[in-house]
Amino acid sequence: MTVKTALITGITGQDGSYLAELLLRNGYVVHGIVRRASTFNTHRIDHLYRDPHEPDTRLFLHYGDLTDGTRISALLEKVQPDEVYHLAGQSHVRVSFDEPEFTGDATGLGTTRLLEAIRTTGLPCRFYQASSSEMFGAAPPPQHEETRFHPRSPYGVAKVYAYWMTRNYREAYGMYAVNGILFNHESPRRGPTFVTRKVATAAARITAGLQDVVYLGNLDARRDWGYAAEYVEAMWRMLQQDDPDDYVIATGVSYSVREFVEQCFAHAGLDWRDHVRFDERYLRPTEVDNLVGDASKAERILGWRPTVTAPQLAGIMVDAEMAALRGPAVPTEEMTKFSPSVLVAQ
Ligand code: NAP
Ligand code: GDD
Repeated sequence: MTVKTALITGITGQDGSYLAELLLRNGYVVHGIVRRASTFNTHRIDHLYRDPHEPDTRLFLHYGDLTDGTRISALLEKVQPDEVYHLAGQSHVRVSFDEPEFTGDATGLGTTRLLEAIRTTGLPCRFYQASSSEMFGAAPPPQHEETRFHPRSPYGVAKVYAYWMTRNYREAYGMYAVNGILFNHESPRRGPTFVTRKVATAAARITAGLQDVVYLGNLDARRDWGYAAEYVEAMWRMLQQDDPDDYVIATGVSYSVREFVEQCFAHAGLDWRDHVRFDERYLRPTEVDNLVGDASKAERILGWRPTVTAPQLAGIMVDAEMAALRGPAVPTEEMTKFSPSVLVAQ
């Protein structure tokens, strides 16, 4: 059997870490692009890492940045991937209002740099673009593949640009390039400033007596929240089809932020009204009010269906925060083999 090689941008992020696990389980050789930082940013994948000098190593990390097209081309030439999963980007909607230019560069143009690098190197690889339900913005629910985009943030606008560049390379050059239009998906590995993780962390810390209140913005917005570990399976399936196409990935059910807060706090045995305060700094200049995805095409063609509901997710996330407060887990064999200095050395 031929062993496939995948390249993941954003491997250090929430989705990148779950996808790397899935691909390694499926027998792939996995290469990931890591941006250089003054501190280690690989904590989500440390448990997967093996010293590259060991013969059974199948995970390799390379420095790179989406704003550096020359480096991206060089890495494609070096890695020669069969599949490219493009997950990297400035992914925070509120931050995109503060940094619209950088968001456009990384989240929008970053996709063009990758597509153009694939085209000019002539690699016959398949390409996955991490598109987002944020592109639908103000479009009324339920949203599906044919729903018109009406983005409401610089992040959403950048993702619409990247979506169309992906389609354009598919149509213009016959490239196997797909858009996964994923609705919100969360996990204990979610970045700490996204609302689900922020609330789950607060519920656990309040229970432990470490804080008393949490400040939030708009509680009325509704989101279709799924479990990230299940969503990366859909990404992989999109690249295993005979023909490239675009798919919505969602649970089909939405809850308000208020309801999710209530579920987290109830799971921790707390009444959220005693601990949640409003702070306008968490409001956005324009908001996305209601996202509910119709993923029937993905179910029909990819055979993909989510199983974890938002209330279950709230429980998973609060439990994980409480476990983390009880102290670090005993290191696994993988973790003891981890050597940071080797990790990103080239
Ligand atoms: P995430 O946790 O924020 O991860 C983003 C990744 O991109 C990180 O690995 C980050 O590196 C990397 N990155 C950011 N800027 C970069 C740059 N200039 N050069 C190279 N790498 C860069 O996001 P996620 O939740 O895993 O989401 C993955 C992708 O799916 C993103 O494109 C996001 O916009 C999109 N998406 C997410 C959702 C969702 O609900 N999670 C829904 C739809 C679409 P560091 O670790 O160094 O920060
Ligand atoms: N982050 C945050 N912090 N959001 C808050 C807060 C707060 O204190 N209080 C209320 N919210 C509301 C936001 O206004 C928004 O309506 C909702 O909670 C969800 O916010 P986020 O968790 O930041 O996620 P998002 O929906 O804006 O964006 C996420 O999902 C997109 C898919 O629709 C990100 O993962 C994007 O990268 C992704 O594309």
